[in-house]
Amino acid sequence: MVRLSTYVVPAVAIALLVGLTPPAPGPAMASSDAIPLIIAHRGASGHAPEHTLPAYDLAVEMGAHVLEPDLQMTRDGVLIAFHDATLDRTARGPSEFCTGPVRERTLAEIRECDVGSWFNERFPERADPSFEGLRVVTLDELFQRYGHQVRWYPETKQPEENPGMEEALVELIHRHGLRDAAAERGQVLIQSFDPASLERLRELDPDLPLVQLLPRQALDNRTAWEVLEAISHYARGVGPNHTLVDEAFMAAAREWGLFVHPWTVNDPTTMDRLLALEVDGIFTDFPDVLAQRIAGASPAR
Ligand code: G3P
Ligand code: CA
Repeated sequence: MVRLSTYVVPAVAIALLVGLTPPAPGPAMASSDAIPLIIAHRGASGHAPEHTLPAYDLAVEMGAHVLEPDLQMTRDGVLIAFHDATLDRTARGPSEFCTGPVRERTLAEIRECDVGSWFNERFPERADPSFEGLRVVTLDELFQRYGHQVRWYPETKQPEENPGMEEALVELIHRHGLRDAAAERGQVLIQSFDPASLERLRELDPDLPLVQLLPRQALDNRTAWEVLEAISHYARGVGPNHTLVDEAFMAAAREWGLFVHPWTVNDPTTMDRLLALEVDGIFTDFPDVLAQRIAGASPAR
């Protein structure tokens, strides 16, 4: 008997219960698109404070194809580019505004916080005075700034604690005119570790391409074949921890029609290993390093 992943059973069960069909066939990325994709993880976050405009600007300058905003939602329902559920690691400022859960602060309160100085404290060798005082950015502002110029890879973070996050995301994708490009060319790929969040997105707009993230332990008790078969019922691609990716994983992904975007890879040797396996894209904090490895690898596919 096939044992389905604990990460995918809920979504598959929900899909069967409500009679949803698998994703429409067809590529999530046009054939002319660059592969492998350089996916700037939280922007060029190895060079500048994650999820700030300098990090995103630098990613574009370095040739990243895709920008990755992790999404948290403020108390007043605004989606911001922010990784952690709490402010403490990357925000500095008045403690009543800049500590504790993001979802307990309004956008105006969080705008009081400096989200750049932590980087200078943490990485003195890469510190830059211009990072001090940077402010959080909203997904709306990011879409306004780069729009169709880049691809997008928003991730719903802690969706179970942030009801309405999926609705807000879909509304922004539609409002910025990205919906058709997402559906037809994968201009926006939506990722989550949580299958229920992906299922909610499918209910809202079944044509938006979805990507199931897989943590390092996702294959501890299951084969890649089993896990990826289940995911193929609702997603176009998979985002595995890079340690999961080997020849068997790639063969299973190809069999089930899923593209593969491992995370998060900053070491050139690991980049080379994954490029040799012909992954479809890589999340990295250093888009410049990945661009160099791709340029030095075998001819573009
Ligand atoms: O989204 C891929 C990867 O970024 C997942 O890990 O914690 O960096 O969001 P995290
Ligand atoms: Ca992420």
